[in-house]
Order: sequence, then C-alpha cells, then structure tokens
Amino acid sequence: MLLDEQYKEIRDMVKKFSDTEILPFAQQVDHEGHLPQSQIQKLADNGFLGSYVPEEYGGAGMDYMSYSLIVEEISRNCASTGVFVSAHTSLGIWPILNFGTEAQKKKYLPKMASGEWIGCFCLSEPNAGSDAGSLTTFAEDKGDHWEINGVKNWITNGKEAGVCIVFAKTKKTPDYKGISCFIVETTTPGFSIIKEEDKLGIRGSSTCQLAFDKVKVPKDALLGDLEKGFRVAMATLDGGRIGIASQALGIAQGAFDYAIRYTKQRVQFGAPLSDLQGIQFMLADMSTKIGASRLLIYHASALKDAGQPYSKESAQAKLFASESAMWITTKAIQLCGGNGYTREYPVERMFRDAKITEIYEGTSEVQRMVIASSELKAVH
Ligand code: CAA
Ligand code: FAD
Repeated sequence: MLLDEQYKEIRDMVKKFSDTEILPFAQQVDHEGHLPQSQIQKLADNGFLGSYVPEEYGGAGMDYMSYSLIVEEISRNCASTGVFVSAHTSLGIWPILNFGTEAQKKKYLPKMASGEWIGCFCLSEPNAGSDAGSLTTFAEDKGDHWEINGVKNWITNGKEAGVCIVFAKTKKTPDYKGISCFIVETTTPGFSIIKEEDKLGIRGSSTCQLAFDKVKVPKDALLGDLEKGFRVAMATLDGGRIGIASQALGIAQGAFDYAIRYTKQRVQFGAPLSDLQGIQFMLADMSTKIGASRLLIYHASALKDAGQPYSKESAQAKLFASESAMWITTKAIQLCGGNGYTREYPVERMFRDAKITEIYEGTSEVQRMVIASSELKAVH
C-alpha cells in the first residue's frame, strides 16, 4: 500500500531499531521466558511506550497508524516484545487517554509513556472469557473509597505492571450492565500475582493470574462513568485489536522473509527450491495474505485516526491477519523442511507465537460475532 512519506520514515526508523535491538535477543527471550529490563528501557528511550500519547503528557505525539507500524515492525522479530508494547499502549494507556479526567491523565500518562509504569488490562476471569460481561470481580462503595475483590486471569504484562485497568461490577447483575472501570496501582495492599502461566508461545510475555483482595482505591480511581465500564472495555478492545492484527502481520512477515531466503539458498534436485513453481505458488499465496492483512490494518488505523467508526474494521483486520499468520507460519515451517521444525530456526517460534493472535483480545469466533452483528445492523 502507498504510505505517506511520514509513515515510511517511521517504518524505516522502527525497522532499523527492530533489526539491531530486538532481533539479536528474540531467541533468548523465547528460551528464557522473559523480557530483559534493558530491552524495556530501549523501547521507552525510543518513544515506543508512549507513541500516541500527546507531547503535553510526555509522549511522542504520533497517531494510531504510526503505532500499528511500530507493533508490526517489532513483532516481525519478536512477538513477545510486540505484545508487551501493544498491551501497555492500547490497553493500558488508551482508556486513560480517552476516558480519563484531566487529573488522571496528568497523573498516569507521563509515567506510562516513559515506561516507569507499565500498563495492563484486567477484564478476563476464570469464569468470564468470551462472555466478558459475566465477570464477577466486585467493587464495593465504602463511602470514601472503593474496595475491590476478585481474581483476574491471563493478564498480559501482569508481572511488569505498575498500573492496572480493572473491570469490576459495582452493581450485582448477570450481564455487563453493572460493570465499572477502575485504575489500580499495583503497589496497593491486597494486589498480588497468584501465578504466571507457562505457555506455548509469546513465552517472553508475562501472562498472570492476579488477586484483588480487599484492594482499597480512592473514589477518583473510577475511570469513565459509573456502570458504563463495559463500553470502556469494548471501545478499548476496538483499538487493541488493531494492535494484535499488527502483531500477527509482523509475525507473518518475519516468517515469510525467512522462508524466502531459505528457499533461495537451499538446493535440492540440482537447483534452489525457489526455482520450483510448486514452491513459488506457496510463496505467492503467503505474499497475498500478507498484503491483504496489511490493507485491512491500515484501513482500520486510518479510520480510527480520522475519528470515524472502526469497530467492524478492526475486528476484520484482527480476524484476517491472525488466521493468515497461523497459515503463513505453518507454510514457513513446511518450506524450511526438517530445519524449520527445530528450535535452531526461528520459524518454529513464529509458528508458536502466531497461535495466540487467534485467541486473545477476542477469539476468531468473537471477531466474527462483532463483524456479523455490525453487518446485520447496517442492512435493513
Ligand atoms: N464500543 C462501545 N460500546 C460497545 C461496543 C463498542 N465497540 N460494543 C458493544 N458495546 C456496548 C453496547 O452498546 C452495549 O451497551 P448499551 O446496552 O449500553 O448500549 C453493551 O456494550 C453490550 O453490547 P453487546 O450486547 O454487543 O455485548 P455482549 O455481551 O453480547 O458481548 C462480545 C459482545 C463482542 C462477545 C464481547 O463480550 C467481547 O468482546 N468478548 C470478548 C472479550 C475479549 O475480547 N476479551 C479480551 C481481553 S483483553 C486481552 O485479551 C488482552 C491481550 O491479550 C493482550
Ligand atoms: P472461552 O470463552 O471459554 O472460549 C473457548 C472457545 O469457545 C473459543 O474457541 C471461543 O471462541 C469459543 N466460544 C465461546 N463463546 C462462543 C460463542 N458465543 N460462539 C462461538 N464460539 C464461542 N485477558 C485480559 O483481560 N487481559 C489480558 O491482558 C489478556 N491477555 C491474555 C494473554 C494470553 C496469552 C491469553 C491466553 C489470554 C489472555 N487474555 C487476556 C484472555 C483472553 O482474552 C481470553 O482467553 C479470550 O477472550 C477467550 O476467553 P477464554 O479463554 O475464557 O475462552
């Protein structure tokens, strides 16, 4: 897709950073299962942790398209680092930027943009995943403060987080109607990490089960309107899904680039594999899926930047890019043969990393529900 000069410059800048600072550590991050603090610091120093935070709040003042490019280029080399940036920015920072009071923005955004406070998003629970509205964490009004009790599951950046965006009911309802949203600092007594998950992929990204046990937060920790928290969650996920689509695209591009280089140098039957039409057809299909994913992502980002509705488009981008990433990484292993199946070659890691993009921030089935619901409402 034709990109404006400003975006080409941003892409080139992030590409260089990703190839020099992220790529050399990608296998190590996967094997050791965590992101080194030095890597997080480099992300912060380059403005990637506050990309679209306005300059007045200490950010880089970029737009959402630029943010998508950042997540894509970082994920091309390391999907664990990609989701660290994505969850912090689009799920931690964005709801404060969009729904926060001036005091909340001034308190949290500068420290989050600088990486001093990492953000996480606490929606899912042991018994509330796709049916997020059925969550049971409860925030009781204690007069001069709220008291939060509950357990949150699968929280990305749970280990590194300084700030949690927490969804809790303030009225006991069976559905989404009683949900409110709170900003909780992880130093608050009663907050703890119950466990860190051991996962198939994105092994360098922390995924934690968190306990909120009589966590006392001030009245002004409420983010957005009382009992309108589900809208905060859904609106935040609309943007977050563009980030995960970009992560999926980055993984797919990384696997594709590797497979191309491999087939050009691997000789069988007296010639490079890439000379064979059967191999070329596979590469052509991979390339086409990458191109289509990119167009859907840029379209959704452009709509968001223009202030137009983008809920359906972000779901389409995530659905297509994630399912394409899974298909492309499977083919990348196929093209690299036995080598591709080993841990010495990066396509095996990319294949494991791709799978999660079909699950988190709404499974592929949830994206289809969002898309179908939008289309059914649009046509009378
Ligand atoms: N923006 C704002 N409000 C929205 C909205 C949107 N995009 N979509 C729905 N709403 C509002 C509706 O207007 C409605 O509110 P009102 O009644 O006040 O008008 C309310 O939300 C309920 O809407 P629905 O009836 O459509 O909701 P539902 O209960 O049927 O659920 C769903 C719909 C799409 C399945 C939703 O529950 C969902 O997205 N589930 C998946 C959860 C998910 O994605 N979790 C991700 C966790 S974060 C994560 O995974 C992070 C990570 O990995 C890094
Ligand atoms: P379930 O909802 O139990 O679904 C199981 C299967 O049933 C899925 O295939 C699903 O698509 C299907 N299904 C469910 N309902 C329907 C339906 N109505 N129609 C058709 N099919 C359906 N959550 C957070 O809040 N914050 C995070 O930071 C976060 N990070 C995560 C990181 C990782 C590594 C993982 C694994 C998860 C993370 N999650 C996070 C949770 C994630 O969003 C949920 O796992 C996801 O929304 C699915 O919920 P579930 O796992 O409970 O599956």
